[in-house]
Amino acid sequence: MAILKIARLGQPVLTRIASPVADPGAPPLRRLVADMAATLADADGLGLAAPQVYQSLRLILFLPVRDRAAPRDQAPVALFNPTLEILDPAPELAMEGCLSMPGLRGLVPRARRIGYRGLDAAGRTVEREAAGLEARVVQHEIDHLDGVLYPMRMTDLRNLTFDSELRDFRSIQEGSDHD
Ligand code: NI
Repeated sequence: MAILKIARLGQPVLTRIASPVADPGAPPLRRLVADMAATLADADGLGLAAPQVYQSLRLILFLPVRDRAAPRDQAPVALFNPTLEILDPAPELAMEGCLSMPGLRGLVPRARRIGYRGLDAAGRTVEREAAGLEARVVQHEIDHLDGVLYPMRMTDLRNLTFDSELRDFRSIQEGSDHD
């Protein structure tokens, strides 16, 4: 297993449409999944898409997080050629970060509940529903396969902040609720 270099904002691979994977069980892909899992754990992230490690392929990894407090030591789910269906289109706003944009966070609207499907590493179809944080992570990762980064989903770029300013940012948000 190797820790892979993560592409940062500005790398063309991040805005390209990734290609479908023909054979998820092929040895090079098994190695890629293992390396991406190691990279995700090393970066302490919730999800990682293949284009973020310079592989323009439709493959995502994510932790099966049910809520923010869920332990992060679980094995990530690997999903090839994932697709999603919006089950509850009501947008939910929450802060997101991205390993390709370290140090930044933004308030992003996402569908609250989705269904997703794809192939696992053995080529079997996986079909599940997710809500809340897990639904958000899956939407974020699948967006990477279509060259979409979270600021492109934001409705107000004033809600983009550096981590280091998060406390002041939050107090502005909270303050504005009372205006
Ligand atoms: Ni990301």
